[in-house]
Amino acid sequence: MQSTHFDITSFQNHLRSQWLGHELVYEPELSSTNTCAKSINKGEVCHGTVVITDNQSGGRGQYERAWLSNPAENLTFSMIFEPSKHDALTLLTMACALSIAQMLESECEIMAKLKWPNDVMVGENKIAGLLTETQFNGRNLSRLVVGIGLNVNQLQFGPDHGNATSCKKESGKSWPREKLLAVLLSRIEYNYMLWQKLSGDLLCSVNQRLVGHGEWVHLIINGELSEERMKLVGVGEDGVLQVIDKAMNVHRYDHEQVRIKL
Ligand code: BTN
Repeated sequence: MQSTHFDITSFQNHLRSQWLGHELVYEPELSSTNTCAKSINKGEVCHGTVVITDNQSGGRGQYERAWLSNPAENLTFSMIFEPSKHDALTLLTMACALSIAQMLESECEIMAKLKWPNDVMVGENKIAGLLTETQFNGRNLSRLVVGIGLNVNQLQFGPDHGNATSCKKESGKSWPREKLLAVLLSRIEYNYMLWQKLSGDLLCSVNQRLVGHGEWVHLIINGELSEERMKLVGVGEDGVLQVIDKAMNVHRYDHEQVRIKL
């Protein structure tokens, strides 16, 4: 497929959100949109600014891993939030992941699930990843940056990509990145509002899509595989993962402590 630059006019024509993405910082090439979003001066960005690039040369993922993406084939962008509340940030990341899954279903007819805490999966394969980073001014959260890498039109993935897939791989069709981003931002804006209100609907929607929800799974707790299986109860209001063991004791883990082994 011919790679073309992100078309800002087309994006703006599709955009229906109230505030998210109205301020757009586009650079043809950046090392990392998250790094850029963190480095822009306070006066030059606002709540809802989106930083996007076609070619991310030093994309960062979870656990210091690289995020690799072919130029102009995928979406690599970061959103800047200045939230009024500073708790349940993991739930906000999951609300953004949920928005990706909802957009994939409505626009591309691709059924995606959420793998705790930061991956969007189609079957066994990862279609998107999120990296949330915080900036503090003293003890106050001044900026929250949620970076998203969504594989859209890339067909070939090298061994460094692990089990990656894309919209095109799943559907056999190319997709306009501008429209997908515009629809995704509206979804995120709506789920952001639910997150602010701590809506039960948001928790239900996240848990319905959570890989392993209601199942007995092995967990990797602080890097160690648990011997007994635990039942995955789901994500709670505070964004913490709740599980029960065979003796019905409830355990709660935050996103840094636990991974699900399926
Ligand atoms: C992961 O699955 O490990 C998270 C990947 C996050 C990648 C995105 S691409 C846009 C933004 N900028 C980065 O450097 N990383 C995130």
